[in-house]
Formats: sequence, C-alpha cells, structure tokens
Amino acid sequence: MGATVIDGNEFFYRERGSGPVALFIHGFPLDSSMWIEQLEMLSDLRRCVAPDLRGFGRTGPAIAAVLSMERHADDLAALLDALDVEQVDLVGLSMGGYVALAFVERHPGRIRSLGLVDTKATADAAEAKAGRDRMAAKVVAQGQQAIVADLIPVLVADTASTWLAGRVRQMVTDTRVETMVAALEGMKRRPDRSSVLAEIAVPITVIVGEQDVLMPAADARAMAEAAGAMVTVIPDAGHMSPIEQPGAVAVALREFWIA
Ligand code: MLT
Repeated sequence: MGATVIDGNEFFYRERGSGPVALFIHGFPLDSSMWIEQLEMLSDLRRCVAPDLRGFGRTGPAIAAVLSMERHADDLAALLDALDVEQVDLVGLSMGGYVALAFVERHPGRIRSLGLVDTKATADAAEAKAGRDRMAAKVVAQGQQAIVADLIPVLVADTASTWLAGRVRQMVTDTRVETMVAALEGMKRRPDRSSVLAEIAVPITVIVGEQDVLMPAADARAMAEAAGAMVTVIPDAGHMSPIEQPGAVAVALREFWIA
C-alpha cells in the first residue's frame, strides 16, 4: 500500500507484485478494495497498482463540484509519474472504463494494453442523465443508505452471496456524499468515446458479467467487435464481475496479457 501527493491531495493506492505495471481503475461509487483479489491473483505476472480515485476511498476529498473523467485520467498520469512508471496495462471497471478511455485519449503513449470490464464507450442518453440527477438529489437528501437499495440489485447478480452484497454495500456507504454528486455530474458530462476506442493502437480485451444489467453482455460483444477486441463473458456474475467471479476474471486478464 502506498500514498503520494498530487496537486496538494493525498492519493492512496494498493500495490502487489513486481514486473510491468498493471493499473486497475475502480467503478462508482466504489474504491480500490474491489480489486484486491485481482491484485493477489495477478501479482506473479504484474506489479498491480489500484488507486482510490480523487474523492474516493482513502484518497482525500475532491473539493470539486464536477469530478470529470479527464480529471481522473490526469491524476492517474500524475500517479504514474510519481511512481516513475512510463507505460501500463490499463484495466477499468464501469466508471473506471470511462476514465480509462479518457486516459487513452489524453495519454496515448502511456498504455501497453487496455482491459475494459463491465463498461461501455458511449455517452449517457437523456434518461440516464436524468437518473443521475435523481440519484444525486436522493443521496444529498437521505444519505448513502438511501441509494444502497437501488444500487445493490444492479451491481451484483441476484445469485450473489449475502457477503458480496455486504461488501458492495460497505463500499457504497463509505463513499463521501459530495464525491457521489460530483462523480455523477462528471459521468453525465462525459463524451462518447467510441471513436477513441476504434482508433486505439494497442491490444484490447472486453470482459463482462453474463448477468450485468447495467452493461449488458450483448452491448459488450458489439463494443468488442467494433474495436476488434476479444470478449470474455463471465458466467454467474453481474456488473461486479471481478469480485463476483474473481478467478474467471483473473484468468481472462492473464491470458490476454500473455497472449
Ligand atoms: C459504475 O459501476 O462505475 C457505474 O455503474 C457507472 C455508471 O453509473 O455509469
């Protein structure tokens, strides 16, 4: 585990293993602990680094009304500078995938490969934007507990264990209210990066939980096809495939990296 200061903010990151660096970007409203199993299972192959993004987890508060994907991407580039790392295998789940695509756009020379997990390249439709405004208002009025009931059924498959649901609940309730509001606004404003994905010159893999209701497997297959990427559909997993089926996700990443 480590910490570094970027722009006067303390950034926390988990680290396991040695070798070429793999950078794991968490989703919303989550934190780096969602990658613990992947860090452990892949540490023989990579120096695995999983930061808490600005405002999330143990990293300092954001102090920003909008947490844009570009802001997170630039923070990650600064983190790599601080770690003296030039290039990474980038892996992002959901919002982490949006950040990964912003990173590719802004720092194209710094990636060796891209793993997109339970995510998409397109922007929010109007209804999704309105849903983000409703969630922001609800979390401000009623706190994190109020949105847990909405989020757990869409984050994990309905076959997920009570323990897994508890783990997700803890990440959600530990996320600062103001971070949620700023991140919802940032996701709402993110552009369609399908063209960025189409133009990436490095190997890409797409991984998706078979029961992901937020990023359906059919959409993931279409995204992979458009990008010329391979796709792995993870059985018995929803949107949180890396913690629902950690072994299967680690195998998919391992095979992708060593191919
Ligand atoms: C996530 O898991 O990061 C979020 O579901 C992404 C989103 O709300 O678009």
